[in-house]
Amino acid sequence: MPNDTISVTAWPHGLTRVPFWVYQDKDLLQTEQQRVFEGAVWNYLCLESEIPNPGDWRATVVGYMPVVVARDTDGTIAAFENRCAHRGALICLDDAGRGAKDFHCVYHAWRYDLRGNLASIAFRHGVNGKGGMDASFRMEDHGPRKLRVTTLFGLVFGTFSADTPDIETYIGAEVPPRMERVIGGRQLEIIGRFTQVLPNNWKMYAENVRDSYHASLLHLFFATFKINRLSQGGGLIVSPNGGNSVSSTIAPTETTDQAYAGIRSVDDGFHLEDECMLDVVDEHPDRIRQHIVTVFPNFVVQKTQNAMALRFFTPDGVDRTNLEWIYFGYTDDTPEMRARRLRHLNLGGPAGYVSMEDGCVGGFVERGIASTPDRESILEMGGSGTASQETRATESAVRGFWGLWRQMVGV
Ligand code: FES
Ligand SMILES: [Fe+2]
Repeated sequence: MPNDTISVTAWPHGLTRVPFWVYQDKDLLQTEQQRVFEGAVWNYLCLESEIPNPGDWRATVVGYMPVVVARDTDGTIAAFENRCAHRGALICLDDAGRGAKDFHCVYHAWRYDLRGNLASIAFRHGVNGKGGMDASFRMEDHGPRKLRVTTLFGLVFGTFSADTPDIETYIGAEVPPRMERVIGGRQLEIIGRFTQVLPNNWKMYAENVRDSYHASLLHLFFATFKINRLSQGGGLIVSPNGGNSVSSTIAPTETTDQAYAGIRSVDDGFHLEDECMLDVVDEHPDRIRQHIVTVFPNFVVQKTQNAMALRFFTPDGVDRTNLEWIYFGYTDDTPEMRARRLRHLNLGGPAGYVSMEDGCVGGFVERGIASTPDRESILEMGGSGTASQETRATESAVRGFWGLWRQMVGV
């Protein structure tokens, strides 16, 4: 369906170019809300473990739509728009709660059950025989929009579209085993949370998390201390729909490494006085030291060293993005392993040794492209396609993201 608001320029050169107006066009944000976030995607909502009992709930967003996720009395999980059917106020004002029986809107006390059904209206029949709603008003015809909900490895996802396939089909057959490797099998426990604001359009961060090319170049800590170099083994999986990906980095085995000769990101003269940040225990026989799993449009599951995390990012205006990090351990971690995970957690987050640069580089792009909506970026590393590759020196997953995004948005 053509969109009248998307008028800046046509899209050039397949997936190897991205015009800069896609990060700048304010009208596009509303189109993305309707066609991407409320379209045929599975949006990450929360962790099952955050709402373990009936009446437990969390507030989140789908794109920029406020949403409530709640566990009903029968144990099932429901999700619905956080918008009162009366005059549109938020139904839930806090971020989370436990043991709720129902939800009351503060404005005029319309009440909703745990599935988001309108359950009662204050003074519906008037007061002292006067006022009230007309007898023809049917409560069941009104209420916030509801999402279809599914779960995978303890993660709760929701969709507004009847066309969204089951989640395994949506993320592609090769992705779930890698996701399971990071978070499946054992009982997870949240050990840390960060939130940060990124000074850039949300799609720049969607590119960044799929961009295995930049990691060892932008993040000096990665390359210098051999946590992540492209010369280490590994590769990139891209799902058939292009939107989801897995980047893997294997523990270093190279005795000499000339790949970074002359590149600023490596200074072999540097070393750490205290190497506890590099003290990794391989918890799987594959010796993969970093896994970054992306799920279209705005979700990441990852493991770097012994730190396991989720990342969830949402638009807050055309040039601002909210990013949430949630770090995990296993409930049966030894004290030593828990201490190690907490140490390695410092690699990520807003001030993380290998992620603080991602917090500002999108701002550098925003500033660089400020006056050139009609110009474009180059995405030719690793060719022009979106196939999986046995290297991370590729922008295949970034092209895959744009392929699916374009299909959904219609440009
Ligand atoms: S806006 Fe919610 S009851 Fe009026
Ligand atoms: Fe990065």
